[in-house]
Amino acid sequence: MSQFELVSERHITQFGTKPEQIIHGPGRVNLIGDHTDYNDGFVLPAAINFGTDIAATKRDDRIVRVLAVDCNNETVEFSLDDIHFDENKMWVNYIGGTLLALMKAYPNITGADLVVTGNVPQGAGLSSSASFEIAILKTFAGLNSIELDGIEAALMGQHAENNFVGCNCGIMDQLISALGKENNAMLLDCRSLTFQHAPIPEDMALLIVNSNVKRGLVDSEYNTRREQCETVARYFNKKALRDVTLKQLLAAENELGAELVKRAKHVITENTRTESALTALQNNDMLKMSELMAQSHNSLKDNFEISTPEIDYLVEIIGAEIGSKGGVRMTGGGFGGCVIALTPKYLVEQIKQKIDATYQQQTGLKEEIYVCVATKGAFNR
Ligand code: GLA
Repeated sequence: MSQFELVSERHITQFGTKPEQIIHGPGRVNLIGDHTDYNDGFVLPAAINFGTDIAATKRDDRIVRVLAVDCNNETVEFSLDDIHFDENKMWVNYIGGTLLALMKAYPNITGADLVVTGNVPQGAGLSSSASFEIAILKTFAGLNSIELDGIEAALMGQHAENNFVGCNCGIMDQLISALGKENNAMLLDCRSLTFQHAPIPEDMALLIVNSNVKRGLVDSEYNTRREQCETVARYFNKKALRDVTLKQLLAAENELGAELVKRAKHVITENTRTESALTALQNNDMLKMSELMAQSHNSLKDNFEISTPEIDYLVEIIGAEIGSKGGVRMTGGGFGGCVIALTPKYLVEQIKQKIDATYQQQTGLKEEIYVCVATKGAFNR
């Protein structure tokens, strides 16, 4: 049964009626441009065919009732006028935080009955939370006939993460979940919030490998990296690292110290690589993509220091199979999670076999592999 059918059926058994609407919010994978979004920089993600589905019916009052199929069929009921952080049910906070952000602009929305399920692997760095937030926003916008656009929705999702859930993330995940386009990645300018499409060549696949490395300390390390970037921008009296050049940075090496310089160097060079990747994809130049993705991985590993030996191993063995016919790198926040490979479709089986034959033996962990396509964002009509 598809997720769509599942939420529809469960809505009938739980609430006694067919849902008025079923909304899908996709997860995402980032092809290149990591830890650049909160530096007002560039990212190049794609929405993927894994996501969150919500079946919903509007209510006349301010009550929200939710059945979360993936959380042991847990249910909650709360009022839109009484939303609190719930330490024991983290998943509810994504709904509460997102609705608070929506109600800042649209205070008079009504409640709803919801059934939620999703297939984005959680904690793997494929934005299960952004897909949930964007699906919630699209659901309530639809039920309340609100003309919300994708950028507005993305900002609300990010606001919920930053101010309610407690993660200091940038805007990439929510933007691409809202605005993604079929068969395309997107170059997003995280300062102007404008974007350009980057076609994924028809003969190429998005192969995602989940290392299954347990991602401890992610939030604290993420926030530390973000603070380090902001410290360097402040040193130069600039709004963000986007405005600092490599030359300026290297000239200040003695005053800033080696660690801060490495962090900022990653961001500044990653911005350049990400803009170049747009052109490379538009020209179907896989040799260039191969170089850019390899440089990005090495910079995340050596300058930003957020890779792990397991991830490096995956990048090494996949890279050896793909050569210069595509690219491979770690993707997302770091400290585990996934590797993204842009590979000719005819190599997919060969890569799978290679990973299967060596990864577990080498690391003691079992990988998961997803062959994805780029899909439409929830707000992209
Ligand atoms: C996480 C955050 C994003 C972005 C990436 C790193 O996914 O949610 O905003 O910063 O890490 O590129």
